Amino acid sequence: MPAVLITGAQWGDEGKGRATDLLGSRVDYVVKFNGGNNAGHTVVIGDEKYALHLLPSGILTPGVTPIIANGVVVDLAVLKQELDALNERGVDTSKLKVSANAHVITAYHRTLDKVTERFLGKRQIGTTGRGIGPAYADKINRVGIRIQDIFDESILRQKVEAALEFKNQVLVKIYNRRAIGVDEVVEELLSFRELLEPMVCDTGLMLHEAIRDDKTVLFEAGQATMLDIDHGTYPFVTSSNATAGGASTGSGLPPHRIDRVIAVIKAYTTRVGAGPFPTELFDEMGEQLARVGHEYGTTTGRLRRCGWYDAPMARYAARINGVTDFVLTKLDVLSGIETIPVCVAYDVNGVRHDEMPVNQTDFHHAKPIYQEFPGWTEDISGARRFEDLPKNAQDYILALEKMSGSRMSAIGVGPEREQVVVRHDLLD
Ligand code: GDP
Ligand code: IMO
Ligand code: MG
Repeated sequence: MPAVLITGAQWGDEGKGRATDLLGSRVDYVVKFNGGNNAGHTVVIGDEKYALHLLPSGILTPGVTPIIANGVVVDLAVLKQELDALNERGVDTSKLKVSANAHVITAYHRTLDKVTERFLGKRQIGTTGRGIGPAYADKINRVGIRIQDIFDESILRQKVEAALEFKNQVLVKIYNRRAIGVDEVVEELLSFRELLEPMVCDTGLMLHEAIRDDKTVLFEAGQATMLDIDHGTYPFVTSSNATAGGASTGSGLPPHRIDRVIAVIKAYTTRVGAGPFPTELFDEMGEQLARVGHEYGTTTGRLRRCGWYDAPMARYAARINGVTDFVLTKLDVLSGIETIPVCVAYDVNGVRHDEMPVNQTDFHHAKPIYQEFPGWTEDISGARRFEDLPKNAQDYILALEKMSGSRMSAIGVGPEREQVVVRHDLLD
């Protein structure tokens, strides 16, 4: 089983870090191919809880080679902080490799992210403020700084000068902020040279050789399908491709080499930040899901918006990503709810839509059409086999499986490593 991909089917925080951990030592390489430190992945191992932002979760598994590939935007100060913190806790991070082609997030990207959001006022996206969007904008505008530039001081200086010439005008004249000096940016970036030296390489070549040698490579997406810049709820999205296609452009491994696509999906839905959310709950039930599910952002600590499971969205994610397996997480959070509504289609101004509407405006106006399922009261956190689950929980899973366009191969029944029901081997 050479290459496997894990992404989110909803608006992020489905439990991708946890799903990566599930594959654990059966994987030789774990590759982050998109996003940056806007991600927040929680992995619980025994009494230890790890929250990772920039580094792929696979870094926690001994023996795995973690890779930050070309599609990622890297905040070098965060890279250093996360590595230091893991090293202090005894995690071996020495195998980490970083692509020479990955772009860096600098002080001006972080500043621009914050001031543009403030400027948008009511229309703001609710970004994580980590400079992600501005760094990707520079990449596309061909004024970005890449990791490899740090090893050529003269080129680095020229590029930073070129970038700041325009940005300082914007910062000072439009946003009324202080100009950022070329020297301060260049010096900060150069200060990471020593840290980067042993890590930087052609990660595309490395992955090519790994596949040739029959190694198992796992691609771990940051964010999720509905936050994808092309396929998500634009403009309320992140600035990269979190869907399966992004793994190819974001790593240099051709599309046909990816054999399995696993989408992680919650048994309900959450969203952080602004944008449409048809099944969102504004009542006591929404508060209950947030409370029982501990729905606070791993990165920003913001309360996540909560709602019911959305089957048209799951089908859309299955289609866009070519999902072979779903990992359904947080089923335990639904225990004790008398009847569980599931969105099976949308009503848009009196017209039924069984698939995601073509126009974003329609999606903003979509009212969920619900089918109700009987709940269960038992504590399911101890279940390890499908048969251990109450009949109504089994029926709920089977119903979701039927509506969602792919098999549900693993079911999360609690946050801990072993709290999972595996129905089908994810690598088989
Ligand atoms: P990611 O961004 O997709 O990696 O997900 P996050 O780590 O941001 O959010 C998922 C949260 O749900 C984390 O706090 C996990 O510990 C937790 N979690 C994952 N799976 C389960 C599950 O099956 N049950 C419960 N109760 N919590 C889970
Ligand atoms: P993981 O990997 C949930 C959201 C932000 C905002 C929008 C754009 O943990 O699933 P950005 O800073 O990326 O420009 O913000 O995307 N967002 C996430 N929401 N989980 C994430 O990552 C997210 N990364 C970004 O809240 O609405
Ligand atoms: Mg998260």
